Amino acid sequence: MSNQKESWGSRTGLILAMAGNAVGLGNFLRFPVQAVQNGGGGFILPYLICFVLMGIPLLFVEWSIGRYGGISGNHSTPYILDSMSKKKIWKYIGVFGIFTNIAVVAYYTYIESWTFMYVLHTLLGSFTGMSKEEISFFFDNYVNLSGSDFGIPLLPLVVYILVLGVNVYILSTGLGGIEKVAKIGMPLLILFGIILAVRGWTMGTSFASNEFPDANAWDGINFLWTPQYSSLADPKVWLAAAGQIFFTLSVGMGSIQCYASYIKENEDIALNSVTAGFTNEFVEVLLGSAIVIPIAAGFLGIDWVLENAGFGMAFQTMPYLFQQWGTTFGIIAGVCWFGLLFFAGITSSLAMGTPWMGFMKDEFGWGKVKGAVSFGIVALLMGVPTVLFYKYGYFDEYDYWAGTVSLVVFALLETILFAWIFGMDKGWVEINRGADIRIPSIYKWIMKYVTPVLLLLVFISALFTPEGNDWAGAIASFTDGRLYSLDPSALISKLTHEDIKLALSLSPEQGEYLEKKMFYSSLARIQLLLLFLGIVGIVWYSSVKRKKSSLS
Ligand code: ALA
Repeated sequence: MSNQKESWGSRTGLILAMAGNAVGLGNFLRFPVQAVQNGGGGFILPYLICFVLMGIPLLFVEWSIGRYGGISGNHSTPYILDSMSKKKIWKYIGVFGIFTNIAVVAYYTYIESWTFMYVLHTLLGSFTGMSKEEISFFFDNYVNLSGSDFGIPLLPLVVYILVLGVNVYILSTGLGGIEKVAKIGMPLLILFGIILAVRGWTMGTSFASNEFPDANAWDGINFLWTPQYSSLADPKVWLAAAGQIFFTLSVGMGSIQCYASYIKENEDIALNSVTAGFTNEFVEVLLGSAIVIPIAAGFLGIDWVLENAGFGMAFQTMPYLFQQWGTTFGIIAGVCWFGLLFFAGITSSLAMGTPWMGFMKDEFGWGKVKGAVSFGIVALLMGVPTVLFYKYGYFDEYDYWAGTVSLVVFALLETILFAWIFGMDKGWVEINRGADIRIPSIYKWIMKYVTPVLLLLVFISALFTPEGNDWAGAIASFTDGRLYSLDPSALISKLTHEDIKLALSLSPEQGEYLEKKMFYSSLARIQLLLLFLGIVGIVWYSSVKRKKSSLS
């Protein structure tokens, strides 16, 4: 344990850093796509309910266990959880809180590096005069390492290392540096977001063309904001909504607990956590939904958006659309968009570096520079294959296991620890100590029963997703004697690559590519497993060291 007490410089700094941790690429790239793919207005309602019943309770849990662990000098989840129970197993469960951050940061900073390059290309006018297809090809060329970009082979790798290096540098300056970046990055990204959102909202039908005569930005906004109550009965939408809440709030990751461990003993966490959470929701729901979808609908029509909505749109379509606003405003819009993504990304990736650094400092006395550099090296080792084998789904594999499954598993376990083992009465006192607001007491009940049950349901549904996502049929199969068959996207099926095998049987002509994809997916899993086991080993070693020093 470290004796030196490092803490946040100011309350504003803490809230901005926490909000910066939450506000990330997920708000602008993941949210709109999830919303469109899950029925637009049909998604928003389950999403908001998940925020209230899982998001907010998890924020309370993570902020309070973080502050609680920090009091005894622990700054990452293995020993924060350990300090809450006598059972040794919890420090190994806490490994998730370091593992997830490293695995996610490995591919997350890769996207960050794209945004950096796209700001540069926008300023250099690289997209000027390019057709929609050319801009889309430009992106494919970049991520497939075709090497034509500035004629430098493997440029994406070089830029990735550079951006990771910037993260390492800022991390090496400690909480002060992180606070500074959040204080600059957060207001700027909100400003950039507002500029783009206002432009999007005021487009209306004025950019309808011969090719897309029905284009109307308002169709995009209406699609996202017209509630559809039927979605409330669709578990697939609930799963997507819950997954988005986890990712966007960064709950179940381990970074909130780490940030919170640097809060002073009696400093408020009730109001601070809610403020950071709502800031994230403001940015996600208001700005995240007001840019890509309405702008694309304003140029290309809502039907095009519904058919093409995907992660790539941000890089493959937006630069083309910005140009249609004229050269100067096109450049301003491009810089706002990719600059916003860059700041959103970096304030989150910095948070992902802190659990490792906190752990190494607490257990082995590693200073900031050593902690940051070692984090950079591990992240790089994890990240290089995601760059090199992007097209074979290496990246997606990390995102699924570390960026999705891990979050739910860890959130479930830590909620059980907090509400049932540490005890909800003690936990409630912990949340309310020094609180500047009164949390409605219904939350005590929600945290004890509703949140863990919902988390369990989410996890079980992901494990056993029925074929075709047909939940009604699956439930009926228990009584009518039909066999319950799993969907290839179910977690259990993914273990044996059923999704890729299905694709193979449907498109045998893609055999060679899909075989490789299966190979690289397995490799990515092995790499993730090795990372997890490696951290387990370090935690075990630290526990031996702790035991020895307590004896001597
Ligand atoms: N919470 C971060 C995001 O939304 C990870 O991107």
